[in-house]
Amino acid sequence: MCGIVGGVAERNISEILIEGLKRLEYRGYDSAGLALINEQQVLRERRVGKVVNLEDAVRTQNLSGNLGIAHTRWATHGKPSEVNAHPHISGKVAIVHNGIIENYAEIKAELEALGYQFSSQTDTEVVAHLIAEALKTQATLFDAVQQIVPRLKGAFALGVIHADYPDELIAVRENSPLVIGVGIGEHFIGSDQLALLPITNRFIYLEEGDIARLTRTNVEIFAHGTNRIERPIKELDAAVSHASKGEYKHFMLKEIYEQPEALQQTISQALNGNRLRDDFLSHAEQDFSNIDQIQIIACGTSYHAGMIAKYWSEQLIDLPCQVEIASEFRYRSPVIMNRTLYLCISQSGETADSLAALRDTQKRAKAKDLNITTMAICNVATSSMVRETDYHLLTLAGPEIGVASTKAFTTQLAALILLILKIGTAKQRLDEAEIDCIVKGLWHCPKVLSETLQHNQEILRLSELFVEKQHCLFLGRGTLYPIALEGALKLKEISYIHAEGYAAGELKHGPLALVDNDMPVVILAPQDSMLDKLKSNMEEVQARGGELFIFADENSGIVEKDRQHVVKIPHISAWLAPIVYSIPVQLLSYHVAVLRGTDVDQPRNLAKSVTVE
Ligand code: G6P
Repeated sequence: MCGIVGGVAERNISEILIEGLKRLEYRGYDSAGLALINEQQVLRERRVGKVVNLEDAVRTQNLSGNLGIAHTRWATHGKPSEVNAHPHISGKVAIVHNGIIENYAEIKAELEALGYQFSSQTDTEVVAHLIAEALKTQATLFDAVQQIVPRLKGAFALGVIHADYPDELIAVRENSPLVIGVGIGEHFIGSDQLALLPITNRFIYLEEGDIARLTRTNVEIFAHGTNRIERPIKELDAAVSHASKGEYKHFMLKEIYEQPEALQQTISQALNGNRLRDDFLSHAEQDFSNIDQIQIIACGTSYHAGMIAKYWSEQLIDLPCQVEIASEFRYRSPVIMNRTLYLCISQSGETADSLAALRDTQKRAKAKDLNITTMAICNVATSSMVRETDYHLLTLAGPEIGVASTKAFTTQLAALILLILKIGTAKQRLDEAEIDCIVKGLWHCPKVLSETLQHNQEILRLSELFVEKQHCLFLGRGTLYPIALEGALKLKEISYIHAEGYAAGELKHGPLALVDNDMPVVILAPQDSMLDKLKSNMEEVQARGGELFIFADENSGIVEKDRQHVVKIPHISAWLAPIVYSIPVQLLSYHVAVLRGTDVDQPRNLAKSVTVE
């Protein structure tokens, strides 16, 4: 997804902007560009493809400046091309933009009537021309931006500079993330703080509707674009700033291997010995004791985590739980229910559909005077979602760079089961023995994950059998059904092999028709009450010539035979099996993708953080 970096300093910032863009590469993009103000001129370079192409151009031409903006673009309006790449310019104005201007067509027609010529097919270019037009009547650049922002509909973040304002960077945040990085005698903007971590660990988080005016020495912020307001500077601890591949070939592999540690971190914040800590979500206890149900809202992999929580909520604490994809939930006018916990799950906390669903729910509950509780399970402590919910529980996975979510997912699962235990305790639906059993299992989990990771070579060998395949089926039952969906999602997103996940019980209702000699079928077979039924499903596949790849509990009795490959997974209690069985499907997808030569960390057409619809 698009990325913004900008800055105003005493030193040349071209290298800083390029480094910032590189740190945003993981989000996915198709072109990159930069504009600098130097001797009252706008210097601009744009390139299709990787940031390194832009870097070469900037170096060759020795471009420099103390004020500048830069951008990685992920095409929404107009194909990936140099003319559509940002920054866009109108006269002496240059802008970068994330998000979408929904009413751009109408504004474009108006500007064309005034004689403005458009050089791109983007929605962004209208903003540059609108500012240039407003400058004809407004006294300053800031006034011009302030005047035109209310005309723009949609979700957007903007960075604006002007050749006649060599010490001024204007930033706008309207439903698309943007932070200010505070340096010493210099200021920066970034759509993700990660972009700015080499230069500062002090950040101001803009709120929706803020317009900010940054100079080298000063930051002025205006809420709703008009009311001067002070926003606090927050300091990040050093641990957050670590994001390098280290010994690993890809971020995804590194993140897969970080899971035991990430899981340990996530559970440690909640547990004390074999009990929940007294202070774990204690401020939410009263609200939790009053809820009658949970509604989970999420996208992508986070949605799969939510699906598993539904099993836990209903089976462990008898609490009804619905799960829905945010992009559906937000548009179908769902009935907002009283005494309900609305739980958003998101790695980034900035996913446009999830945030919109949350905000819409809050608005509608308020209008009807309903008693709801909102909560986020999130990996980014400073995200919009965390700031806008009543309660939050952080997954302590550390920065996740690979587009395909791995450690964020397993830590979401850990956070979810801890939350279910907490709600069960608040509602007195769990006894000490039940808690003790699950908590013991959770403490044991990092070790089981490490042991499972030791099957890497075996899984690599199996992955060779997938390289030439066109399709693949993943099957599981109960809490392993969402893992089947997750396995299929992983495989399709990074290896580009078409894959489907199914509840094994649905096999006869359609997917069995696909099974032939050429169809690999991945089975998730923990030791649980559904194992015998799953074994029957496996026979159905074998009888049709399908080749089975089974990740099976070491005690399951499932053995290797012709066209039946088995990887033995260490035993884990049925409740926690989805956490452990995530590992083999991640490793399988990873190795298949590497063997097929795809861009594992930045798969084509995908973005890490989907901040537009
Ligand atoms: C994108 C990412 C996925 C992620 C999904 C939801 O599609 O590529 O990995 O699961 O967004 O993102 P969130 O940050 O809300 O969990």
